[in-house]
Amino acid sequence: MKLQTPSGRIVVLGTGGTIAGTAADAHDAVGYVAAQLGVEQLVSAVPALAAFELEARQIAQLDSKDMDHATWQRLALAVDEQLRRPEVSGLVVTHGTDTLEETAYFLHRVLAPAKPVVLTAAMRPASAVSADGPLNLHDAVHVAATPEARGVLVVLGGRVHDATQVRKAHSYRVDAFESADGALVARVEEGRVRRVGAWPEAEALGLARIQRPAAQWPRVEIVLNHAGASGRLVRLLQADGVAGLVAAGTGNGTLSQDLEAALREAQAAGVAVWRSTRCDAGPVFDLPGTLPAAGALSPVKARIALLLELLGR
Ligand code: SIN
Repeated sequence: MKLQTPSGRIVVLGTGGTIAGTAADAHDAVGYVAAQLGVEQLVSAVPALAAFELEARQIAQLDSKDMDHATWQRLALAVDEQLRRPEVSGLVVTHGTDTLEETAYFLHRVLAPAKPVVLTAAMRPASAVSADGPLNLHDAVHVAATPEARGVLVVLGGRVHDATQVRKAHSYRVDAFESADGALVARVEEGRVRRVGAWPEAEALGLARIQRPAAQWPRVEIVLNHAGASGRLVRLLQADGVAGLVAAGTGNGTLSQDLEAALREAQAAGVAVWRSTRCDAGPVFDLPGTLPAAGALSPVKARIALLLELLGR
């Protein structure tokens, strides 16, 4: 699909999600099936996008609860291939909301692109009376076409988040996404991008880091501290050959005595162990004698960071 416009070309990569979902009843925003419409249909449903030179490509078609490492690998390769085209000024990736923050953080760490790679999604299916997908896609294309925009960004509900800070914070509301500590990058208002923070910067690890077949990537799991938490799960995971563990601790990454003891046993046996927090925002600090802290990364992002570190060993 090619539409003429004076600005650079924007490539829209489809991966599925509710933005591509449909329900039998237009008033049903819960009982729908995700990943039903192709990315070309999503683009065609937004007439205002005819002002842009767009290409649409389907990379995957899934409910993002089922996102996996092989799809991430394929997506990172596809994003990199498109970014290398001089005529392409930016990318949009349509995605499900459920693991969007993980895919964004993965792409951010692996590619840290100099051009904008904008992930967008929807909380309501495309068939809903008040679907949010078309406006989110419209806004995402505007951000991707913004000359100074860079890095992996997430656009929903008129807000532009960076990949490190963003997280899905509500299970149902249309404004489901938040940036930790309120650290927004920009807002999109009537198609205009108003920057309120910094474009993300990072050093790319590069595709070489993820070239191993995904089935051979080290297994990194998350365990949670909670009232009554024991170390049993950790011991089972260790016996099952886990390579890395992220403990989603309470508060400043604190752990019950038995959970901590099991994590230390696993660490002594060669399992990489990091501590993060189950709190919605805020860092975990390294203190003398504690297990290594994951800083301000949420448990799911710490899992990706540890996975990428283990892939580099
Ligand atoms: C999904 O994550 O693919 C389904 C849920 C959503 O997109 O809101």
